[in-house]
Amino acid sequence: MKLEPFAMERMQSTYENQVRFNLSESGVNPLRLDELVDGAVDRDAFFAERLRYTQSNGTEPLRSAIASLYDGATVDHVQVTNGGAEANYITTWRLVEPGDEVVMMVPNYMQTWGLARAFGGTLIEWPLVLDERGRSRWRVDTAALERLVTVRTRLIIICNPNNPTGARFESSDLDRIASVANRSGAWILADEIYRGAERDGRETPTMWGRTDRVIVTSGLSKAYGLPGLRIGWIVGPPAFVASTWSYHDYTTIAPGALSDALAQRALEPPRRERILSRTRSILNQNFPVVGEWLDGRGDLFSYAPPDAGAIVYVRYRIPVNSTELVTRLRTEKSVLIVPGDHFGMDGYLRIGFGEDIAYLRSALERIGDLGLRIADRGSGIIQRMS
Ligand SMILES: Cc1ncc(COP(=O)(O)O)c(C=O)c1O
Repeated sequence: MKLEPFAMERMQSTYENQVRFNLSESGVNPLRLDELVDGAVDRDAFFAERLRYTQSNGTEPLRSAIASLYDGATVDHVQVTNGGAEANYITTWRLVEPGDEVVMMVPNYMQTWGLARAFGGTLIEWPLVLDERGRSRWRVDTAALERLVTVRTRLIIICNPNNPTGARFESSDLDRIASVANRSGAWILADEIYRGAERDGRETPTMWGRTDRVIVTSGLSKAYGLPGLRIGWIVGPPAFVASTWSYHDYTTIAPGALSDALAQRALEPPRRERILSRTRSILNQNFPVVGEWLDGRGDLFSYAPPDAGAIVYVRYRIPVNSTELVTRLRTEKSVLIVPGDHFGMDGYLRIGFGEDIAYLRSALERIGDLGLRIADRGSGIIQRMS
């Protein structure tokens, strides 16, 4: 099996710990361990955890806590994985056979794009549409989906809220996607890892429950600010979830015992509420900072404000390739952001704004400070990003 490089993750893995300012992340400033383990009693209990192989599909209390987030789900509908990444990996591996067609919402987190192709699938892109009437927003084009999905479609992949645009898609869209899938017998993989990280606090509707062949993947890395736990999950029909368990045997066997124990704490209802409200307050404090910075540069940038997640997907009007621009920012200013090239869309940048606010301000200052001399399209006027 040949894997195409997963360009964004490759860049992040290579450089995220080398740069002074990393704005390539899409989640919020992570929690500390002592924000999950509080009080002497809990601390003692945590310290007494045995570093064993834990229940390999996730302990029952953790699966039960996850199941409670999805109407009608039970522990048998849930498998705990190492991050949302493993949930996506196992699901795609389980479903896609050579010759299958996979219809994928783009732009998107490109993990399943690469995997579906590696497993022999034919990847068909379903582009989001940028609606610029009034307040600009990214929307789904369900009529286009109807044209792309056929009896050969094995899987439809969506990401809601969407990475990289931060757009939230509503129930009416999800119902239409479900009915298109039903007509062809396709499965749906809905990556909902940013659900719960909405700026306005209105939870994104889930795909769960809209057809019998829905698999939701998610985890604690984004909305919960706990990427270091590496806890993700698959929620799906029990027979499907049972079948993916043996795939897990070939990947990582089990989540870490400590991570499982900490994830249980994170999902205790009052603490979960506190964590999500912390995320919301980071997003609402920080987005205006990046928004003002972008708006203060004339017509150099345009963007649809994100509904969720600590990312803004920005179109820039400079005649320079996005990877080149990002490389210059990294090498000259030690700031890392994601080029639109990594989503197959040159001319865009994804900027993460979930970090500490002072850090964010300093990083933006440095970007502006690049003093990048660029010819304004057509007019020949020299502009600066600063
Ligand atoms: C949409 C999406 N799914 C999955 C992942 C991977 O999540 P995790 O870190 O939990 O493996 C990411 C990470 O950026 C993501 O953006």
